[in-house]
Amino acid sequence: MARVPPANIREKKAKGEKITMLTAYDYGLATLVDQAGIDMILVGDSVGNVQLGYENTLAVTMDDMVHHTRAVVRGSKNAMVVSDLPFLSYHVSIEEAVRNAGRLIQEGGAQAVKLEGGEERLPVVKAILNAEIPIVAHIGLTPQSVNQFGGFKVQGKDLETARKLIKDAKLLEEAGVFSIVLEGVPAALAAKITAASNVPTIGIGAGKDCDGQVLVINDMLGISQGHIPKFVKRFTNLGPMIMEALQGYKKEVEEGTFPGPEHIYTIKDDVLERLY
Ligand code: KIV
Repeated sequence: MARVPPANIREKKAKGEKITMLTAYDYGLATLVDQAGIDMILVGDSVGNVQLGYENTLAVTMDDMVHHTRAVVRGSKNAMVVSDLPFLSYHVSIEEAVRNAGRLIQEGGAQAVKLEGGEERLPVVKAILNAEIPIVAHIGLTPQSVNQFGGFKVQGKDLETARKLIKDAKLLEEAGVFSIVLEGVPAALAAKITAASNVPTIGIGAGKDCDGQVLVINDMLGISQGHIPKFVKRFTNLGPMIMEALQGYKKEVEEGTFPGPEHIYTIKDDVLERLY
């Protein structure tokens, strides 16, 4: 079976079917996300926060993204793999942006790339699309702009920024992106953008009226440490379960009850006796 193509994502909006997207960064979880039938796996630059231990996404490199994208592609068969262009990989020149997007496809094996920004990124968006690389746009609370925003702040709460988001979404649609992530945007504004847009919106912290939803997998599984944003729902809480398993392992190793007889390999007595 071929991977989900961009046309299917657009078709889902037309049919009123919700689109599912989750992040993954490694082979193991990508396998499970794929088997669950999720439409798109995002190899997000959130890998910087949740896997590499950085404070934000700004330190993530192209090599990091290629490395994690390859693992996710190996772990999945059906979902479309979308890989994030990290900070500075598409800001310096259009040529560099196209080459870097191409690396995520050619070396990483992704089927599409995601990049942050609206009107200001249109020349880059058009050049990447011109290289036949499908794009998921990302507007609103774009984490790579954390220093410009002065923190992780909800966007589009005032008239000026709300109007900019509406305009950005329209321009990105006209440029030809096949979906738009709306992050950290008031739900009523996201609903308006979604209703006015012919391309699907994928919300994260943008309410239920988006055409689809995306979450960071570590957050929704309950394995993220530290602050969890308000918009996250923990669909399970693996953190305490993992801790229980780790403590059980430590205890059994220390008291000598693991490994037990069922975990060992045997050797015939006569072989053993002839050893010395
Ligand atoms: O990097 C990421 O995980 C993302 C999602 C939050 C949309 O960009």
